[in-house]
Amino acid sequence: MERISHFELSSIAQTEHFGQTLGRLLFPGAVIALVGPLGAGKTFLTRAIAQGLGIDDPALVTSPTFVLIQEYKARWPIYHFDVYRLKQGSGFTDLGAAEYFAGEGVSIIEWADKVMPLLPREHLRIELLVSGDQARQALVTAYGERYDQLLNQLSEVLPKIR
Ligand SMILES: Nc1ncnc2c1ncn2[C@@H]1O[C@H](COP(=O)(O)OP(=O)(O)OP(=O)(O)O)[C@@H](O)[C@H]1O
Ligand SMILES: [Mg+2]
Repeated sequence: MERISHFELSSIAQTEHFGQTLGRLLFPGAVIALVGPLGAGKTFLTRAIAQGLGIDDPALVTSPTFVLIQEYKARWPIYHFDVYRLKQGSGFTDLGAAEYFAGEGVSIIEWADKVMPLLPREHLRIELLVSGDQARQALVTAYGERYDQLLNQLSEVLPKIR
């Protein structure tokens, strides 16, 4: 069973708040699938989530061209994938994605729609839609019991932007 919630991110400050709040609620092994067009805010949101997870230097969170995965030290390791340039799903398997997902760290995948069949069945999907210069919509879908609880918590903590 899956459930979708909608959050209004009408400024970068709100996206930051949303991401940091989510980061604080995450658990070891969590998988976050980010979907949305170029410039939607996937990397920006990843940085905010990393802050919520206690990263020392959020400026480390970038998506350099041709780097498919970056690892950061935080409360748990953060595995930040950007699969935009991946030509085939097999490349994701070759990266050792399954091992990362099975680990203690938190996995965050930009352009996750390109590797959807290779994601764990249970995960949190965040689709970012651009609704204005500074405005974004986040459509959040929980797949699995743990993510359903996570989404409930997130909605309770952020009632104003729902
Ligand atoms: N409400 C908002 N939330 C997030 N980003 C916003 C918002 N309003 C404006 N922005 C701007 O949108 C841009 C988002 O860039 P970002 O690199 O995070 O996008 P992306 O989805 O990762 O793009 P790419 O597909 O190239 O990886 C940033 O410059 C950010 O300042
Ligand atoms: Mg990006």
